[in-house]
Amino acid sequence: PQEQTLILFKPDAIQRRLIGALLSRIENKGYKIAGLKMLQVTPELARKHYEEHVEKPFYPHLESFITSAPVVALVVEGPDAISVMRTMMGSTNGREANPGTIRGDYGTSRQMNLIHGSDGPEAAKREIPIYFQDNELCEYSLSL
Ligand code: CMP
Repeated sequence: PQEQTLILFKPDAIQRRLIGALLSRIENKGYKIAGLKMLQVTPELARKHYEEHVEKPFYPHLESFITSAPVVALVVEGPDAISVMRTMMGSTNGREANPGTIRGDYGTSRQMNLIHGSDGPEAAKREIPIYFQDNELCEYSLSL
């Protein structure tokens, strides 16, 4: 099905100047960018986004990492966008992620793993409005 998913380029991706490289992978794949912005995540926003992790032992580290520099937030749209983006991202831990995936090609860290993508339709539905108002999402055709 046609889906929208929430993608974040995390602070490590911004600091390593990988915005263009990661964006190119998404565009080259054929997906549509329906929304795009750079923002600084606040602790409050982090707690909202990572609701399910707030009680986990690693949460304080996750919060300080995700608020350490800006992120780029995107809504990526297209056929099976949620699961295909997860496949393109690779496993959470860069050391376990396959070569050819974003995490497999660019990182060795479990926490500083470059990119976030909604892990299912329920998550996408919850996460997109955390980062984007309706009027910040664009509808347009991909062909000229
Ligand atoms: P993500 O899947 O975007 O959302 C949760 C994040 O928490 C995950 O990426 C990692 O960055 C981080 N994370 C998950 N598990 C651990 C862990 N065991 N230790 C530290 N960070 C983790």
